[in-house]
Amino acid sequence: MCGIVGYVGQRAAQSVLVDGLRTLEYRGYDSAGLAIVDGDQMQVAKAQGKLSRLTALLDETPLPGNVGIGHTRWATHGVPSDANAHPHSDPTGDFVVVHNGIIENYLALKEHFVELGHDFGSDTDTEVLAYVIAEEYDGDLKNAVRKAMARATGAYALVAMTAKEPGRIVAARMISPLIVGLGSDETFLASDIPAVLPYTNNILVVEDGEIVDVTADGANIETLDGTPVERDPFVVDWDPGRAEKNGYDHFMLKEIYEQPDVIEQTIGGRISSDGSVELDGVDWGEDFAVNLEKIWITACGTAYHAGLVGRELFERILRVPVEIAYAHELRYRDPLITGTTLTLAISQSGETADTLAAARLAQENGSRLLALTNVVGSTLSRDADDVLYTRAGPEIAVASTKAYVAMLVGQALLAIKLGAERGMLNDSEVVEMKAELQELPAKAAAVLESTAEVAEIAKTICDVDDLYFIGRGLDFAVAMEGSLKLKEISYLHSEAMPAGELKHGTLALVTEGTPVIVVLTQQHIYDKTISGLQEVKARGARVIALAYEDDLEVAKYADRVIRIPRTADMFAPVLAAVPLQLLAYHVALELGHDIDQPRNLAKSVTVE
Ligand code: F6R
Repeated sequence: MCGIVGYVGQRAAQSVLVDGLRTLEYRGYDSAGLAIVDGDQMQVAKAQGKLSRLTALLDETPLPGNVGIGHTRWATHGVPSDANAHPHSDPTGDFVVVHNGIIENYLALKEHFVELGHDFGSDTDTEVLAYVIAEEYDGDLKNAVRKAMARATGAYALVAMTAKEPGRIVAARMISPLIVGLGSDETFLASDIPAVLPYTNNILVVEDGEIVDVTADGANIETLDGTPVERDPFVVDWDPGRAEKNGYDHFMLKEIYEQPDVIEQTIGGRISSDGSVELDGVDWGEDFAVNLEKIWITACGTAYHAGLVGRELFERILRVPVEIAYAHELRYRDPLITGTTLTLAISQSGETADTLAAARLAQENGSRLLALTNVVGSTLSRDADDVLYTRAGPEIAVASTKAYVAMLVGQALLAIKLGAERGMLNDSEVVEMKAELQELPAKAAAVLESTAEVAEIAKTICDVDDLYFIGRGLDFAVAMEGSLKLKEISYLHSEAMPAGELKHGTLALVTEGTPVIVVLTQQHIYDKTISGLQEVKARGARVIALAYEDDLEVAKYADRVIRIPRTADMFAPVLAAVPLQLLAYHVALELGHDIDQPRNLAKSVTVE
């Protein structure tokens, strides 16, 4: 999705903006650009393709000045091209805008200017906003942006600048995320926190329906109707180094290797030695868990797969019905959310448009909303009644790894807390689970130390047309995520399904040499999964099993076995996910793909 940066201060804006855009590359983009005001001169440079194309232009013609805005575009209206790249200008070139999201009525807005005899240079829904702002301008950029927002409909974040008022940037938020970074004698704007972290960790969030007026002295926020907003900044304790590769070839690999730390941090200080679970940000009162009648889980993609694991944990431990729904489906259903319910919305970014909409729907239906997210201050965290932050740090690679594992751990903590409060777990059971959880970082580290087998197996599946992932129960949930990871970055076709489902149709596709990856950690259904394994083996499948290191049985049936340390079955997904992430990574590496920014995908899907 698109990324925004803005800067007003004493530094050379060009380098701040380019560095900021580089930090946002992980969101996925197809063109980039920036505009810098120097004196009363507006200068714009933009180019289709990777940031290196833009920086080549800037090397030839650097843009001087200390105030500017930049953008990485992920095409929604109009193909990726130089002309469609942001920033966009009005006909005089004095006003520029960048924008994330979608302006729904842009065609109607354009019609007005076409009637006035203007020709538009792009196919975007953004360009017309520069025209509207210029038309509304009466000497005050903030008023012009306010009036432009009143004319536009949609979900967006808009940033505007004019050569007529150098030293000022005005931005507005209607759903798409926008934050301000407060420095000393300098102020930053961005769609994501990591873009400003090298300069400041003092962050101010702009909320929906607000306008922010940014100068080097700071930022003033108002609502659309002009009511001043007093909001304290908060401090983000992410280390900017964690948004860099630190010697790894790819962010994805670095993030896979950070997982032992991430597990430890997500658990950190949340279960005390007497067995009580203290989740900062979660405060639903004493009787809530006892009266709980149903849990809904909603999310998209990898976060949904994390929710599949949560569903089983909550059901097993709490003995309450749990329903999981893709957020993009749930938001258009008329779901029966009644009684005392908890809706768990899971989102790494906390900005996924569908997840936000589904979460709001659940809240409107009277459900208590719990956000499980990685981004402090994200929209989801602010919408929710309770928030549990995963402590994974910034996740840069488009393919989610450490955030997924942190979501699994976060849900384990929630299940333990709710289980204790509901009287389903006694203190000693909680202490036992805590002990198991606390062993996970070391066990995940052990998985990461023995990756040779995974890299070898990766070489053997690079050239296949199709492969399958199977498992039962929690193993099926992990299989879903393993398959998605592989698809995302290797572009190989793969499908995951419950092991018992194969014979109901898909088995027809399993022939001599078809790779089938079987996840085999759940002991109560072990024999059943082995039967599924034998079914594919009998059709000539090449079976790659993922099993505990002390499982001697599996080698009798599988061609290759990937081993993980034994743990409580309910926490096995945390460990089993790791080799599957590595498998996807090594296949993509063999195939020479862009691992951190796979084709067609964006990190944060802030439009529907
Ligand atoms: C896959 C991936 C996506 C996201 C999905 C939801 O690796 O990252 O499937 O999980 O787009 O994103 P969040 O968690 O930010 O809501």
